[in-house]
Amino acid sequence: MEIDVFTLFPQAFEWFRAQRHVANALSTGLRLECVNYRDHTPLNAGQVDDTPFGGGAGMVLRVDVVEAALRARYGRDPVELREDRRVVALTPSGRLLDEELVSELARAPALTLLSGRYEGFDERVLEHFASDRLSIGRYVLAGGELAAMVVCDAVIRKLPGALGHADSALEESFSEALEGAPEYPHYTRPAEYRGWRVPEVLLSGHHARVREWRLAQSRERAGKRRPLP
Ligand code: ADE
Repeated sequence: MEIDVFTLFPQAFEWFRAQRHVANALSTGLRLECVNYRDHTPLNAGQVDDTPFGGGAGMVLRVDVVEAALRARYGRDPVELREDRRVVALTPSGRLLDEELVSELARAPALTLLSGRYEGFDERVLEHFASDRLSIGRYVLAGGELAAMVVCDAVIRKLPGALGHADSALEESFSEALEGAPEYPHYTRPAEYRGWRVPEVLLSGHHARVREWRLAQSRERAGKRRPLP
């Protein structure tokens, strides 16, 4: 898989690239690269943003700057690019990221993530260059970088070889194996701590009963924690 992140802060991704599961995926074929809008701006003095028409606070990432960066990277008109490549703009008003969307993105051969800054993008970026608009939650971040990292993190853990134990990604919260429910609780040593005992069934060595107990716990959690309307 190849992932390109368009950002004004490529250095923010250095820490991310060094994380174990990302490093694993990078060594087994993932390509994760950053493109700095500022390196491709057609404007003077590295300008990338401007004040909003109609007034108001903040700065808006310019459509011509985003086009120049996309053209420099892919050598084609970004209006056509989005027809055969997922070009995902990160914006608080986009589709909420969930496990289903993560799995869908993880199946794509290539992803482009566009991070916005300040007040976000000129709307024409979203309308004409993006194939998807994605939000990691209904709150506003100072920029799309953290959101892009969240998307990368969730997608990359689904790639073969990223997690040390391939099963970890199969049976986890919201997975098909758990019927979309949150994951069951985990315990490790010591078996008793301050009088708090690990459930006996987990110590029994009885795999079928452990499995049954875990599924029941997972279903119970699904019932208790109802999604917000
Ligand atoms: N950019 C700023 N806030 C964001 C959010 N909540 N999700 C995605 N991108 C963002």
